Amino acid sequence: MKISLFLLSFLVLLPLSLQDPSPGVKAPTQAHAELTNHGFPIGLLPLSVKNYFINQTSGEFSLFLDGTCNIKLPPDNYLATYSKKVTGRISPGKIAELQGIRVWAFFKYWYITGIRISGDNLVFEVGVASAKYPSKNFDDSLDCEGKRSSS
Ligand SMILES: *[C@@H]1O[C@H](CO)[C@@H](O)[C@H](O)[C@H]1NC(C)=O
Repeated sequence: MKISLFLLSFLVLLPLSLQDPSPGVKAPTQAHAELTNHGFPIGLLPLSVKNYFINQTSGEFSLFLDGTCNIKLPPDNYLATYSKKVTGRISPGKIAELQGIRVWAFFKYWYITGIRISGDNLVFEVGVASAKYPSKNFDDSLDCEGKRSSS
């Protein structure tokens, strides 16, 4: 009886905690935690993740920001733009079918379609092309440009 009550309250509370990562906690959100669970650094996402959903079976996720978010990516300071909605499919060491992140470089936008881990590097896939950067460049989750943390 005790156990089933516990399970019940857990099941009832779980969706709430996924939708609304504790307000006021500055540290990574549930979405950031999901990145680290799969071996990725938290700096792949801006701090301002508002909502986050994942299908734990398929790894398909959707996350929502307050709005479009610009971040300068180290080390070359390419401007990355996150759409208000970002979707993809995450598995250990691999994010595929990514939609909603583009990078401005060489006078055009490049849509990042996948990210995978290769040793100490992250490989960003842009269609058939790819670019490799050290993972440690992404250890910190940043605020969007022109926006201070609202907490
Ligand atoms: C989660 O993914 C699995 C496998 O693709 C699928 O069968 C299931 O319907 C999905 N669940 C939801 C809630 O979308």
